[in-house]
Amino acid sequence: MLPMNALPTLHERLPRLTEHLEQWIIESKKQCQHGKVASYIPELAKGNAKALGIHFIDAHGNETSAGDTDTVFTLQSISKVFTLLLALMDNGEELVFNKVGMEPTGDSFNSMLKLELVQPGIPFNPLINAGAIAISSLIHGSSQSDKLERVLRFFRMLTGNENLQYNETVFESELQSADLNRSMAYFLKDNGVLEQSVDDVLDIYFHHCSIDATCKDLARMGLTLANNGYDPIQQKQLIPKRYVQIAKSFMVTCGMYNASGQFAIQVGLPAKSGVSGGILTLIPGTIGIGVIGPALNSKGNSIAGVNLLEKLSQHYDLSMF
Ligand code: DON
Repeated sequence: MLPMNALPTLHERLPRLTEHLEQWIIESKKQCQHGKVASYIPELAKGNAKALGIHFIDAHGNETSAGDTDTVFTLQSISKVFTLLLALMDNGEELVFNKVGMEPTGDSFNSMLKLELVQPGIPFNPLINAGAIAISSLIHGSSQSDKLERVLRFFRMLTGNENLQYNETVFESELQSADLNRSMAYFLKDNGVLEQSVDDVLDIYFHHCSIDATCKDLARMGLTLANNGYDPIQQKQLIPKRYVQIAKSFMVTCGMYNASGQFAIQVGLPAKSGVSGGILTLIPGTIGIGVIGPALNSKGNSIAGVNLLEKLSQHYDLSMF
């Protein structure tokens, strides 16, 4: 890896970014009218369908943002990348991959179809709901509240934001509309994937989905992934490189659900989306990027956010492939 002071700055890597963003935000916002805010969790239906914002941070701490970057949203599925990392740090690779597989499903994020169809009946990957529920059961802690505290502490450490909190209103709303996730969890318990009480595991899962954040927080976490687990701002290795390599591989193959192939072709960067409209992505080695745009396309990804990232990637030739 290059020494930090040799890494290109944001403005060297993406010249005239601020100017371009102004125009691209206007253009991409037009996509919002073709999307819909998630409503299967009632609290998420309150998201602003017209919002679109993006934030960038480089290894030197330079930041740029554009659009509605003050929008606060819950991490939802974006949190799954980081609970996977915490579970890997707590348990190691072997145990984690006894509980979840390494393959994309091609199905929607909340499908349980393959759980029954394909033996040994473990979730295909840790980023679909069934997989993330299994991962939630692997987080260590001396008690339920200790586990919740450890999860929140991990996110605070990675964002450098001590004010990060669980949004209990969204959490309650998730809990009230959890029939499908609950049935998946019982199925996993019957298969021997879950060993604890379904309620306790879902409590962890819904809580980590319900952490309030902004696209600045996403960019900050993306920066550490971009630098293989080393946080250049705190100048600390926060996550072992091997685990970040695993997480980024899942982001490429499964991070945008059953639109991950299309995203790899159109944008070509590791990314993870959530149903509240966030997208965390990164330019390997250099830059963390956070996007918010609550109006979603039919696959559950931010419609304007994906459009904006396509423009960015194509203009600066950012694809890894
Ligand atoms: O399980 C759920 O429905 C949510 N808490 C997380 C879903 C999510 O973000 C999937 N996304 N695109």
